[in-house]
Amino acid sequence: MRAAEAAAAIEWLVEMGADEIIGSTPVNRLVMPPPAPAAPASRPAGSVLNRPTLVRPAANAPEMRGAAQASPGNSDAAALAAQCATLADIEQALLRFDACPLKKTATNLCFADGNPQAQVMLIGEAPGRDEDIQGKPFVGRSGQLLDRMLTAIGLSRHAESPENSVYISNVIFWRPPGNRTPTDQETLMCLPFLRRAIEIKQPRLIVCLGATPTQRLIGKSEGILKLRGRWFDFGGIPLLATLHPAYLLRQPAQKRLAWCDFLSLQQKHKADAH
Ligand code: URA
Repeated sequence: MRAAEAAAAIEWLVEMGADEIIGSTPVNRLVMPPPAPAAPASRPAGSVLNRPTLVRPAANAPEMRGAAQASPGNSDAAALAAQCATLADIEQALLRFDACPLKKTATNLCFADGNPQAQVMLIGEAPGRDEDIQGKPFVGRSGQLLDRMLTAIGLSRHAESPENSVYISNVIFWRPPGNRTPTDQETLMCLPFLRRAIEIKQPRLIVCLGATPTQRLIGKSEGILKLRGRWFDFGGIPLLATLHPAYLLRQPAQKRLAWCDFLSLQQKHKADAH
């Protein structure tokens, strides 16, 4: 392959989200590998097998103890989340939380953006490359589209008034490597923090962007094209399901549906304000 072809292939991979050389399944590096089979009693002198090998510290050696025995206090998502009293506490708890494998490959924690006092809370799926770099949700291309859609109905993550602003978070708080779909295990680990954030924040309205947050919060498995445009109840808070902006970038013709959903949001928001 010539240099220009190789560069084009790499650019295409980056465009597709494969911008890191990394496996697609999480590896638990804290688990000790099984012991090597016992060496034969004697080997001919000079055999490669007689060369010195690196000695792996025993699991109970002091330097391994800290790694192998993660503090239970920092690996129990539900317990950590329950202790939080403010949104800032949740961010701090996520910084301490050490059980989610995604944290090991992510650059930054990506918890939330916008006005914590906002009446409307938006929930996406997981940070992408730009969000991982900046540590804020929806700052890449799909975030720019989301901002334009919000502006069109008089909302903004930068507005100061609770009525005109939004607060934005995700189901997952660390970027899955290469933007792969988060596993159920990773999602379930992050959910207690999201649920606690909603409980603390008490938004007047919730908007779920895409299938993942919608299905996880309302407990339904239907596809997003069936769920979108409908209002559900999340512990007394009206929750609207709509399409994810990344999907709209791939399928621009579907923006029409998302626009209907945003008008429904605007209408409900205005109606409830009076
Ligand atoms: N997509 C999401 O679901 N969340 C982000 O923060 C960015 C892209």
